[in-house]
Amino acid sequence: MSLNVVILAAGQGKRMHSALPKVLHALAGKPLLRHVIDAARALHPACIVVVTGHGGEAVREALAAPDIAFALQEPQLGTGHAVMQAVPLLGAAATTLILYGDVPLTPVDTLKSLVGAASGGMAILTAELDDATGYGRMVRSGASDGERPASGASDGERPAWGASDGERPSPGRITRIVEHKDASPAERAIREVNSGIMAVPTAYLKDWLSQLSNNNAQGEYYLTDIVPLALADGVAVESATAPHAWEVLGVNSKSQLAELERVHQRNIATALLEAGVTLADPARIDVRGLLSCGQDVRIDVNCVFEGDVVLGNDIVIGPNCVLKNVCIKAGTRVEAFSHLEDAEVGAHCRIGPYARLRPGAQLDEHVHIGNFVEVKKSVIGAGSKANHLAYVGDSDVGKNVNIGAGTITCNYDGVNKFKTIIGDGAFIGSDSTLVAPVTIGAGAYIGAGSTITKQAPPDKLTLTRAKQMTVDAWKPPKKAGTLPAS
Ligand code: UD1
Ligand code: CA
Repeated sequence: MSLNVVILAAGQGKRMHSALPKVLHALAGKPLLRHVIDAARALHPACIVVVTGHGGEAVREALAAPDIAFALQEPQLGTGHAVMQAVPLLGAAATTLILYGDVPLTPVDTLKSLVGAASGGMAILTAELDDATGYGRMVRSGASDGERPASGASDGERPAWGASDGERPSPGRITRIVEHKDASPAERAIREVNSGIMAVPTAYLKDWLSQLSNNNAQGEYYLTDIVPLALADGVAVESATAPHAWEVLGVNSKSQLAELERVHQRNIATALLEAGVTLADPARIDVRGLLSCGQDVRIDVNCVFEGDVVLGNDIVIGPNCVLKNVCIKAGTRVEAFSHLEDAEVGAHCRIGPYARLRPGAQLDEHVHIGNFVEVKKSVIGAGSKANHLAYVGDSDVGKNVNIGAGTITCNYDGVNKFKTIIGDGAFIGSDSTLVAPVTIGAGAYIGAGSTITKQAPPDKLTLTRAKQMTVDAWKPPKKAGTLPAS
């Protein structure tokens, strides 16, 4: 079934106290609005229209894509008014799904069941909240929750097409939605709330929007007022219930953002555990992107995974590691406090503790990168080791190379970058500086403390080192007025 999607994102988000438009604040490293767009895309809609207002230019810039149209709502006169601005951009699809740009966690399956519930009319996504303050309340006829029946609605005459009455015996039919500010005390006792997310027949929607008035407590054009218009036109008004409250919770403040971040992270951790990943503490892992794990992966506490991270089988990630866009092959250990970004790590490597792999680090199998070693844009061959305090940048390192403590590839002259090539089996003595462009031949030895500026031939010892000498005549300087040592 083809679908239009409208995403409301014009609100200011005053309570965020931020210059950034609310829907651009990140949850799991991704703008709130992008979560909603991604869920919308999963429904393969015919069109997606985002309604912007406050910070519209920034929102458009951040999220522009060929499949997204933007409508500007200026000024913001309510949710009904917001949808009106999208109407000229709506496709011909029979149903229009309305989402909120600040409600990031609604699962695609929940949206699918909402759209399914709208197959014979319109449908509203609702949830039961312990504290419904501020939300629009679902008013139903044949009240079973103690609310008074809605007065104006023509209950008896309403044709019952769509889902059969038998399916939902107890709660009664939806007659209207009352906003918190307009609600009576009895209505405020209702705990079933309007999430704001709804699926509506497109042709009817256009007609009903044109009939809205702003005669209410807030002087706004309420989208929710289409409910009585639907009933008057004999269109069924159904609901789908979100299985969990978090699915429909919106972000209005930093504290709500933090709450939803924890919910989302907990959901990801649960999915990892169910897939067989060992997590030292499911409350202490953050995944801001996609983490895919092979079998028998163990992840210690306080690790952050960003972008696309792929871990093979039998991998151990120590505590306090950050991995961003990395791919690690089977059997590798990443020890505590390591930071890996845009890197590829082969099988059976040992990284860290305190290692840094920067963009373009490509390690073959059985490579050891130890503490305070930084590798950037370099290929490191199988079995090579840089175990302590080194910088390897713009380098091509062969197999079984030993890079001693304190080795620096001097790859940068302040303007240009140059390459260092180290052949198989070379041994770079501690505290050497390799001034690129430079080549160290296979099997070459570099004496500790050397500054290498020219090619070092293979299988030979090369060193640049002033000869050690001892000055016998030397005496330590004396300070004036210093008492002679007794
Ligand atoms: C709305 C619903 C309420 C529901 C609640 C859920 C109406 C009249 N009320 O409340 O029943 O329980 O959402 O959170 O629909 N927006 C615009 N333009 C506007 C006004 C709002 O784009 O002129 C967007 C906001 O950016 C936000 C969403 O619509 O994404 C909801 O706006 P908000 O003001 O938070 O909701 P209410 O109108 O208070
Ligand atoms: Ca709101």
